[in-house]
Amino acid sequence: MPTPSRSPAIAPPAGHQPVLCREVIDLLAVPRGGCAIDATIGLGGHAALLLDELGPDGLLIGMDADEGNLELARENLGPSAKVRLFHGHFENIEEVLKDVGITTVDTVLADLGISSNQLDDPARGFSFSTDGPLDMRMDRQLPTTAADLVNKLSQTELADLIYHNAQERASRRIARAICMARHDQRITTTTQLADIICKALKQNPDSHRSKIHPATRSFMALRIAVNRELEALEQFVQALPRILKPGGRAGVISFHSLEDGLCKRAFRKMKTEGCVNIITKRPITPTAQERRENPRSRSAKLRVVERTSTD
Ligand SMILES: C[S@@+](CC[C@H](N)C(=O)[O-])C[C@H]1O[C@@H](n2cnc3c(N)ncnc32)[C@H](O)[C@@H]1O
Repeated sequence: MPTPSRSPAIAPPAGHQPVLCREVIDLLAVPRGGCAIDATIGLGGHAALLLDELGPDGLLIGMDADEGNLELARENLGPSAKVRLFHGHFENIEEVLKDVGITTVDTVLADLGISSNQLDDPARGFSFSTDGPLDMRMDRQLPTTAADLVNKLSQTELADLIYHNAQERASRRIARAICMARHDQRITTTTQLADIICKALKQNPDSHRSKIHPATRSFMALRIAVNRELEALEQFVQALPRILKPGGRAGVISFHSLEDGLCKRAFRKMKTEGCVNIITKRPITPTAQERRENPRSRSAKLRVVERTSTD
């Protein structure tokens, strides 16, 4: 079990509260003077902790699909010769390592999903609670927005997407309502889509009858599709045995059951093949205190594996 550890050298940046900090540092056992890659550096909160562990002779590589967040990480971490930052998708992690001139690292961290500043920015279109363009791209260079999917996919394709990516049981009703609404007018904003979903489910988001907003699952499903999150995670996880040094550790923090299930299955298969040892027999979740202090941490699950010394 994780034990209490020292606090970070750099205070967590405003705009996003990193989750499971103590657990990440305790379980990743970052070697002093080693090399770590934060594959989803976000605003640099976890990265600051990793840097602290690496010490003055270590190297931290950071990457993010969102160029805006990468800039924030750069500002928050400050200029340093021991930090190299790259705009990129973690499914291409091996290309980033190649750019640095290395093939393996001691530590890998991926903190999946979106950061609070992305969620809270209406212009990014991730949230149903504020009006904004229906975008949802983490990387603005991606060709397809959520509005494209909502307006172009067939009713069956939409229903399948919403069901498979978020297990929304009312997916068919929602897809039908979307197709009827877009017949009259293109769906371009977050609140427009949220209203359509609420009406389809005959639910008032303010009634607090259910714990979550009626559009929560549909929005999540669209975000997963726009950013090809599951395919990317599968590719990233498969690369871990190739990019970890013997004894090196990788941690993945996930926020929904599809991501966590994917990691669990992949890690078990790697263990069977003798590539890794599983450090977390069960996923590590936030303490009650962390959940209270940072409600957005409540669904976080951390799984850690260690590369075996021989294949
Ligand atoms: C939860 S935030 C990470 C926060 C970070 N750990 C911190 O402490 O500030 C997730 C980040 O992952 C990035 N991201 C999502 N999918 C990605 C992908 N496929 N490749 C690289 N970055 C990705 C998002 O843009 C976001 O900045």
